[in-house]
Amino acid sequence: MYAPRIQDLLDREEKVFRIDATTVGVSHRDLISEVVAARPVLSTERSVYKPAAGAEIPHDSATRTIRALGQDVMAGIRTPPPPARGLNGPWPYAATSYLRQWLFASDPLPVSLLSKRGITRSPALSRIVDRAVTVWPDPGADGHGRTALAEQIRSASDAQERGQAIAMYRRATATLCDGVAALTGNALWLMGPAGREQLTGPAGRERGAGPAGRERGAARADLTAVLWETLRLLPPAWMLYRTGGDAYTGLHPEIRREDNVALFPLLMHRHPDYWSEPMSFRPERWAGVPDPEKTPAYMPFGFDGARCWAKHLVVPLAERLLSVALDNRLTIRTPKHPKHPKQETNVPLRSLLSVRFNAVSGA
Ligand code: HEM
Repeated sequence: MYAPRIQDLLDREEKVFRIDATTVGVSHRDLISEVVAARPVLSTERSVYKPAAGAEIPHDSATRTIRALGQDVMAGIRTPPPPARGLNGPWPYAATSYLRQWLFASDPLPVSLLSKRGITRSPALSRIVDRAVTVWPDPGADGHGRTALAEQIRSASDAQERGQAIAMYRRATATLCDGVAALTGNALWLMGPAGREQLTGPAGRERGAGPAGRERGAARADLTAVLWETLRLLPPAWMLYRTGGDAYTGLHPEIRREDNVALFPLLMHRHPDYWSEPMSFRPERWAGVPDPEKTPAYMPFGFDGARCWAKHLVVPLAERLLSVALDNRLTIRTPKHPKHPKQETNVPLRSLLSVRFNAVSGA
């Protein structure tokens, strides 16, 4: 059950439509590419790399942050996950906390607090932790157990660089953990009880088993396809936003100079002009597709010009988390609809599209 404003958008048939006095919505494949290519993203439109500590983020420190995050994610994927009971509870929040615990809990205090959910939700606590991190590094620490992302803070050469490194630690960990939790939760939902059952059970038991086990092993290899199909039907980055200006006028008669433009991968990914059986969840459609992002009318990570810098980290981490959830027989609990037996749950209006449900492991 989508939030009413999302449902309104899903009900639109036009591919270019007015949303309000100053916003035009677009789900037309070619027009989306043209809008994205018309001008680079403004620094104020960025999320992770919007200005911090009173200055723009220099390009080299932005690339260093992404490289550090990449190291931390790859190291995390290789370490054993925390106990699966951490996945119990309301999703996607349970998964966000679980990922933070898995990837960043080795950072010394107060750095690890930067990414703790209870803290990030409170601006006042965030400011206190920021100040505490500003007077870090922990003297005498040998760097043991510290993430590469935290090392960016410790090795900053001046106050401004340090302030920016703190902001980027917070934003990068939040974007990663929130995005991967949303993607994995959406995948678990779309797989449904039957899909999850097919892939459930400890990996070790499967491998040694007979034909059924072999089938499951092969199916497990298709988790990547499950994620690409989830990114089509329930893309966490469901709307991209551009503030108006000269760059977009002339691309379409509906778009005036003062209009902001909202691009909707969510709608484009479901349009029958672009997809066969658009509303069916069919991971098979990605089988043997070497580079899904080259598929027309598909842009879960943006288009050339503003493509996501972390896409190579997001899918492997989500795949690992999905495996942990399936290995531990994570079950989705939602109240049954009184009139029909289908499971229903909410998709609220948030910047990241994510299905809400309660989960129980080992059921
Ligand atoms: C599930 C997780 C994620 C999804 C679905 C996602 C999706 C996207 C999308 C759709 C864009 C294009 C935005 C636009 O054109 O307006 C984008 C751009 C970008 N993303 Fe991601 N992203 C994810 C996680 C991350 C993470 C963890 C980081 C880094 C910490 C990151 C860094 C970036 C950057 C730097 C850009 C380019 C925008 C710019 O030029 O500033 N993303 N992402």
